[in-house]
Amino acid sequence: MIRLVNIRKSFGSQMVLSGINLDIPDRAVYVVVGVSGAGKSCLLKHLIGLMRPDSGQVWIDDIEITSLGRRALNRVRNRFGMLFQGGALFDSMSVYDNVAFPLREKTRKSEAEIRDKVHERLFQVGLAGVDAKFPSELSGGMRKRAALARSLVSDPEILLFDEPTTGLDPIRVNAIHRLILDLHQMLDFTAVIVSHEIPAVFSLATHIAMLHQGVIVESGSPSALQESNNPVVRQFMSGQLEGPIDVY
Ligand SMILES: Nc1ncnc2c1ncn2[C@@H]1O[C@H](COP(=O)(O)OP(=O)(O)OP(=O)(O)O)[C@@H](O)[C@H]1O
Ligand SMILES: [Mg+2]
Repeated sequence: MIRLVNIRKSFGSQMVLSGINLDIPDRAVYVVVGVSGAGKSCLLKHLIGLMRPDSGQVWIDDIEITSLGRRALNRVRNRFGMLFQGGALFDSMSVYDNVAFPLREKTRKSEAEIRDKVHERLFQVGLAGVDAKFPSELSGGMRKRAALARSLVSDPEILLFDEPTTGLDPIRVNAIHRLILDLHQMLDFTAVIVSHEIPAVFSLATHIAMLHQGVIVESGSPSALQESNNPVVRQFMSGQLEGPIDVY
């Protein structure tokens, strides 16, 4: 369903993506890992056309999006939901208005339809009744749930999550992962998740890929990555300071 072909992207003299090839099947829970600064957020932005590659192709089904004009690109983008790194709720809006925002912006639904949808999603993420609260009044975990509800409100086919659990305790990390899996089963989307949560992501992912020095150094099932002989993958998974990954 999603296919990246030889994606290259540089910023000035810095090459961040230097030939990414990736196939993400329909309904996968596809986790992308890699060290900080590896280019994971850039990779996600290429999938949804927020960044254009210097060269290479991004296929969403049979549509190659890097060459699309704005209107055609927007039509494709409407099939996506995105949870940005850091959650990025609007601080000046209530939880209700935050979750309603994509529907008000992108659809012509009536306020009554919007209300039903927002309440359904808030209920599903365990935030029933917090409509009127503002982001500053929520815990970190609740903010992530609200962001999750917002990314799901327009029934996306493809959901992109950029570090959906950063800063949470291990139990809440697992709770968010469980929630993503439950929602995935219920709503049947394809999920692409950037995450640092080793080992928790092993029980979340159907597929894992590791991005390192501009390329995918390994991809496959969680167990294949755990058993990898690639020293880069092994060092990353174990968190050891010694190894091929430059620590400083
Ligand atoms: N718009 C931009 N302009 C210039 N450089 C950029 C831009 N976006 C990203 N970069 C650079 O590209 C590199 C990869 O950034 P990116 O945010 O994708 O990393 P990441 O893997 O998501 O890291 P983290 O795990 O810390 O979020 C970084 O060196 C960053 O400075
Ligand atoms: Mg990032």
